[in-house]
Amino acid sequence: MSNSNPQSSATLSQDDLKTLVGQAALHYVVPGEIVGVGTGSTVNKFIDALASMKDQIKGAVSSSVASTERLKALGIPVFDSNDVAELSVYIDGADEIDGQGNMVKGGGAALTREKIVAALSRKFVCIADESKLVPMLGKYPLPVEVIPMAAQQVIRQFAAMGGQARIRLKDGQPLVTDNGQILVDVTGLQISDPLAFESQVSQWPGVVTVGVFAFQKAQVCLLGTASGVKTLTF
Ligand code: A5P
Repeated sequence: MSNSNPQSSATLSQDDLKTLVGQAALHYVVPGEIVGVGTGSTVNKFIDALASMKDQIKGAVSSSVASTERLKALGIPVFDSNDVAELSVYIDGADEIDGQGNMVKGGGAALTREKIVAALSRKFVCIADESKLVPMLGKYPLPVEVIPMAAQQVIRQFAAMGGQARIRLKDGQPLVTDNGQILVDVTGLQISDPLAFESQVSQWPGVVTVGVFAFQKAQVCLLGTASGVKTLTF
């Protein structure tokens, strides 16, 4: 683990830590190339920082409507993922990350497109404040994108594993993702073998994407801590 401390951190808020890691991620952006861009409040800091080098990159592949809008508003060209064979790097946040680089993602409902763009990328750089680092995945409610007609069956399957799954609501109605599907959030799980878990749940009929990122885990995590940005490599 290396440590860079660009400023005194005694008074840094969680928002400040997100800003620091968003800026630190610029180091991984390859000039002349297209960068993969995730979704969320931490990535928004990265997108804002990326505007400072927009003339040095071709553009971005985005993982959500929200990130696309933010990128375009800053004048950064956004490419369709189908027009790109490979990306050198994908920068995204996480809801949880463990000591091996496995993550839970999807708190912002963008997990499917995030996994697609991550799979296009040679390197996943996770940017997160230190509250996201956990010994084992499962404390944060696990997002799973499902086709609506499968929702109750998926909820029963999680119950059989000891989890409690609920459909995510927005304004009293099921939240509809960018892909026109819905989400269940699962609590009560202890994900001791993320690869096996991701593999198993991904096979359930009607599951579009499970929010465990073990096959597309991070190779690097820029962690915002009270003593500055720490770089974890996996
Ligand atoms: C979006 O769907 C998520 O995967 C985000 O990457 C994750 O929720 C982290 O978001 P924040 O940076 O807002 O905590």
